[in-house]
Amino acid sequence: MRCLFPTLFLVLLTSQPILSYNYLVFCPLFAHSHHKFLAKIADTLTLAGHNVTFLVPVIVREYENIKYLEHTTDVVYIQPDEELEKIGEDADYSMFWKADFGIFSFVPAVQRFNKMFEQFSDNLRKDLSVLDKLKDRKFDAMIFEALAFCAHQNRVNFSQFPAIHDYLGIKAIFPSWSMTHMTELSKSIGEPASPSFVPTTVSPFGDQMTFQERLLNTIGDLSGFLLAPPAMRSYKYPHQVLDIEEIKSKAPFVFVNSNPFLDFPRPTLSKTIAIGGISVNVTQMREEKLSEEFDDILKKREKSVLISFGSILRSSEMPDEYKYTIVRVIKSLPDVTFIWKYETKDIKFAKNLPNLHFSKWVPQTALLADSRLTAFITHAGLGSVNELSYLGKPAILIPIFADQFRNAMMLARHNGSITLVRKDLGDFEKLKKSVDAILNDESYQINAKTLSHQLESQPFSPHDLLVKYAEYGARFGEIPSLDPYHRKMSFVSFFMIDIILFLSVILIGFVALLVFVVRLILRTILIRKLKIN
Ligand SMILES: *[C@@H]1O[C@H](CO)[C@@H](O)[C@H](O)[C@H]1NC(C)=O
Ligand SMILES: *[C@@H]1O[C@H](CO)[C@@H](O)[C@H](O)[C@H]1NC(C)=O
Ligand SMILES: *[C@@H]1O[C@H](CO)[C@@H](O)[C@H](O)[C@H]1NC(C)=O
Ligand SMILES: *[C@@H]1O[C@H](CO)[C@@H](O)[C@H](O)[C@H]1NC(C)=O
Repeated sequence: MRCLFPTLFLVLLTSQPILSYNYLVFCPLFAHSHHKFLAKIADTLTLAGHNVTFLVPVIVREYENIKYLEHTTDVVYIQPDEELEKIGEDADYSMFWKADFGIFSFVPAVQRFNKMFEQFSDNLRKDLSVLDKLKDRKFDAMIFEALAFCAHQNRVNFSQFPAIHDYLGIKAIFPSWSMTHMTELSKSIGEPASPSFVPTTVSPFGDQMTFQERLLNTIGDLSGFLLAPPAMRSYKYPHQVLDIEEIKSKAPFVFVNSNPFLDFPRPTLSKTIAIGGISVNVTQMREEKLSEEFDDILKKREKSVLISFGSILRSSEMPDEYKYTIVRVIKSLPDVTFIWKYETKDIKFAKNLPNLHFSKWVPQTALLADSRLTAFITHAGLGSVNELSYLGKPAILIPIFADQFRNAMMLARHNGSITLVRKDLGDFEKLKKSVDAILNDESYQINAKTLSHQLESQPFSPHDLLVKYAEYGARFGEIPSLDPYHRKMSFVSFFMIDIILFLSVILIGFVALLVFVVRLILRTILIRKLKIN
């Protein structure tokens, strides 16, 4: 008996999966929300006991000073050259205050991202020393945003991410997405995402669409397909062309920032792990202490409203007409306190209203977690939508660009919010009516609370889903059995066009035969009758 123990121990040791994995999280610094999502993933895996390396090509300098990571310490920066830095500086989001791009609102942004990634890829190809230094870390898996796969408007070789995993020989990749849904990512792993009921990434429509909306949604869906990806060559000699679609389909899992209890219901593959809400820690938010300044502001009146358009869109850059209308509404509601995240000191237009407080920075999560805050007026950025959903605040959503339209439609289904369009910011009657409703109609409060309870009680937390699936993927690498066969089916067989045609021919043939026989019988009877007569 005694000699069994060492053997048993050995068996246990070898059959157990490794408890700690090495992850590479690739995160170009180019837009706040994308960076926040990937940093949260990195931190979650670090806290779960894994070794995480955060590889950060700097593109937009101002984000370099923001502390996104709390627990991950192994950060490798790649500094931009002059040209790349210039592309990063060129970002101008203020145009979205003035123009509607509809389903094409992503085009200008994607064009800029293209230029960035192209430049970055060229730079990296010239100097692979950063990657060479990472080679001995023997990464088990790489996590990155699938953005670069789909952002291929120009014929450029910028899809550098598969090239990095190829160069470092990483066996498991997790293409991820900081928004709720990415049509291109779904397509490449073979996930059904018909534009007839799944709103595309930046769709301004919900899941119930009119004919015209379905047409536009379909055009939005197809536009990615028309802009086919460029040939991408390996960083390794002999620099073979990489088949991006094929590489993506080999991902064991993809992580998307969607939450099934919040998002539109739709069919997904077992590969798609919806970790939406991972950035929200309700316990932590409730523990946050408000500064004395904000505590005093909330004490002043029975009801308080927070207005914030996020960190990318500046309230100070909105057209004056909108500013004046907002101020008029605030003036008409003297019993309600308004806190407005506003970036400059030039606030003369507000004429010192006693119930309006401007602040360059607002403790958004602490305010949303405070029961004294009644409602939130926001641009429907996904971060804000997740936070207000988890914390159960009624909201007025005014989407301005990118995925904000989809986020607003997604939340609207829960009946705890009011959705306006940008131009309504210049319509006093409409804005006032909406603010009145969100403050006084109790149903918004009740529905928002219901949603928050559902999110907090979901059976598997986004945190556990991420950790467990990231570990499973790192352990097994590509899992071919998860790759659906229908990915390889032709259009005709997938949509059963051949079957429908075949069955139609049979049916028509049968009906024709039936008609023929019936006519024959009738004629025989008729002739007999005639003869008898
Ligand atoms: C993680 O890092 C630690 C410290 O650098 C190292 O000892 C350990 O072997 C690493 N884990 C793996 C799985 O490589
Ligand atoms: C881009 O790809 C093409 C063909 O795939 C190749 O000939 C060209 O050298 C690449 N350009 C860069 C800058 O890597
Ligand atoms: C959430 O925050 C609390 C308090 O700060 C912390 O104890 C807990 O571990 C956090 N949960 C997650 C999933 O990060
Ligand atoms: C929202 O309201 C509509 C219309 O009254 C109703 O059909 C739907 O079930 C409601 N949804 C929720 C989540 O309460």
